[in-house]
Amino acid sequence: MHNPWKGKSLLSLADFSPEEIRYLLDLSHTVKKESRAAGRMPRRFEGKTIALIFEKRSTRTRCAFETAFGEEGGHPVFLSTQDIQLGAKESVEDTARVLGRMFDAIQFRGFKQETAEALAKYSGVPVYNGLTDTDHPTQVLADLMTIEEEFGKLCGTKLVFVGDGRNNVARALMTGCSKMGVSYSIISPKSLFPDEGLLERCRGFAESSGAKITVTDEIGAELSGAEAVYTDVWVSMGEEAGAAERMKLLASYQVNAALMAKTGRADTVFLHCLPAVKGNEVTPDVIDGPASRAWEEAENRKHTIKALMIATL
Ligand code: CP
Ligand code: NVA
Repeated sequence: MHNPWKGKSLLSLADFSPEEIRYLLDLSHTVKKESRAAGRMPRRFEGKTIALIFEKRSTRTRCAFETAFGEEGGHPVFLSTQDIQLGAKESVEDTARVLGRMFDAIQFRGFKQETAEALAKYSGVPVYNGLTDTDHPTQVLADLMTIEEEFGKLCGTKLVFVGDGRNNVARALMTGCSKMGVSYSIISPKSLFPDEGLLERCRGFAESSGAKITVTDEIGAELSGAEAVYTDVWVSMGEEAGAAERMKLLASYQVNAALMAKTGRADTVFLHCLPAVKGNEVTPDVIDGPASRAWEEAENRKHTIKALMIATL
């Protein structure tokens, strides 16, 4: 198939068709198989450089980009806000213009989605959104890959997100699932429901894919039949000031054995983007138990990110 990703940025999965997302997922499965096969790694990033900009902390995203790029001959350069001027003493536009002349690609993790957009607009090289306050598209690629590995398909499956329904991961999942035909429910307190604009957009995507999108504050019927139950931290990076109140609000939305049992299926898997606060959003017996695919999901960050870089570069 023709590569629809060449030269493109990934700022949000909302910008891509189901066929384009399918292309990346297929490539991710291939990349994973290659990584398991004996023999020499291909050198697909030989002579290439990537700038990894981080305004927020990261384990998986940073390590996935660095190891995936480096092991195939590329040179990743880690840049925290302690290292570069980014909107502080130099505008994002100017930084982007300069980085675009030195690097083949840029990864951005930070606060504003607009910063990722400006980097893409002014650098002229592919920019990958490694998490912003409102989106986390590379995470969702790994999540979709993990569901597909487990159930052999995406279309017709159902994923239920329990917790902070308006955070970046919950939002990004709604976009990815609605595009790929995965029915998606958010269970969260009403005050943490995602905004109507996002819901409307995703319901539009779902109309073509056959997915069903629902939002409720009740831990009940929506869990029935779910292939996957997903949660994320109750307090996202940058929101620490409201932590105490958030914990109270979400206390009854913990993913535990009783909640998992409500799917009525023995083969429901548990997913978490990680890092996890065990004892808050999920109990240790669930995340460390037999239903958990959180560790495969974390590994799949690397395979999907490598596939993204191969396709775009
Ligand atoms: N899931 C995820 O993005 O992990 P990191 O914050 O460790 O990159
Ligand atoms: N919602 C979390 C995701 C971390 C990968 C955060 O933004 O901190």
